[in-house]
Amino acid sequence: MNNFEFHNPTKLIFGKDQISNIPNEIPANSKVLLAYGGGSIKKNGVYDQVINALKEYKITEFGGIEPNPHYETLMKAVKIIREEGIDFILAVGGGSVIDGVKFISAAVPFKGDNPWDILSKGLGKQLTEAIPFGTILTLPATGSEMNSGSVVTRVETQEKLAFGSPLCFPKFSILDPQVISSLPERQIANGVTDAFTHVMEQYLTYPANAPLQDRIAEGILHTLIEEGPKVLKDPNNYNAASNFMWSCTMALNGILRLGVPTDWATHMIGHELTALYGIDHARTLAIIAPNLYRVMFDNKKDKLIQYGERIWGITEGSDDERAENAIIKTVEFFHSLGIQTKISEYTDDYQQTSDIIVKRFEDRGWKGLGEKADITPEKVREIVEMSY
Ligand code: NZQ
Ligand code: ZN
Repeated sequence: MNNFEFHNPTKLIFGKDQISNIPNEIPANSKVLLAYGGGSIKKNGVYDQVINALKEYKITEFGGIEPNPHYETLMKAVKIIREEGIDFILAVGGGSVIDGVKFISAAVPFKGDNPWDILSKGLGKQLTEAIPFGTILTLPATGSEMNSGSVVTRVETQEKLAFGSPLCFPKFSILDPQVISSLPERQIANGVTDAFTHVMEQYLTYPANAPLQDRIAEGILHTLIEEGPKVLKDPNNYNAASNFMWSCTMALNGILRLGVPTDWATHMIGHELTALYGIDHARTLAIIAPNLYRVMFDNKKDKLIQYGERIWGITEGSDDERAENAIIKTVEFFHSLGIQTKISEYTDDYQQTSDIIVKRFEDRGWKGLGEKADITPEKVREIVEMSY
């Protein structure tokens, strides 16, 4: 195992009817920005629960944060917070609202001229201040409720970039699995696929003598494979919803990466597909991951064999056949959730995709991604073209 440090300060409050606990977590007399998305919370009763819990606070509402939150929109919230002296933010939504709030929290006290630099120049680690925030999670998927990362889209330039800062952990996150009952199938399938790939990014690398990390990862994969379809079938199944929700948080709260190599190239390439074509985040992962495993087959073969055996029960055939069958099983799983795995199934205008992505990666100096830093722009080209 590699050396590691671990610190995750987010307080989790998990379970039925826990939204009413908000006042125990936000300092009295705070001026609160209540941030949310396109309005799902007004239809499913979450908004009413939040307003009820916040009745002792002075609140300003900021709705309309889009899926793949837009920098342009978030900067409007930054202005409001600065003008009104707001000192706490409550994010109510999925990964997009939470990520948007992380960026707002960092951008408000940012001293530089242009807050976009936090993303484009990778200034996350240098931040010295952020507005405190909490979250009410309404969509299990990203793990954003218990991590310090954020991904923001700039519409003007069709860019989607990430940043992270130790200051951007939520102070608290409330996870009530009942919120899942209003989720459309598309978002449940996305959530399962995103969390599944988060595990794979931290597990499907090369053996690192970390059997506990491997078994936690495999436990989450098994749970997603078992519980995900139950939630899709019946989002009111509280037990399945609870296990799905907890799996998604555990997949990206920092525990899986401890002491082991990580990849994340599927995410870096996938973000470009969202930026260029608006494909849902999770679906970009289902498109890219299998082909990345094929192009980087030699790096990942040992873990593919372990994954195939422990997750899919593949014990027959040569090593190469077992590893390839593990990839085939993964694709079949995504298909079983109703997720398509080719770029051409989402857009007709894909022929230039590899050229655009390779140029962007070269411009950013991303010469070697992945657990061995050997996914070169040319390998990225191969992966993307295999995904057409
Ligand atoms: O906007 P509203 O009206 O709320 O509707 C949302 C949105 O349309 C809807 N929704 C959310 N909760 C609902 C609901 N509809 C009915 N009932 C509910 N309970 O679902 C739609 C999608 O929401 P969104 O927040 O965009 O989805 P998700 O949670 O998948 O977040 C995706 C974003 O997170 C980023 C992605 O790149 C993408 O921008 N990620 C963030 C990560 C992180 N911070 O660690 C890691 C991930 O890899 C990912 O990159
Ligand atoms: Zn993801």
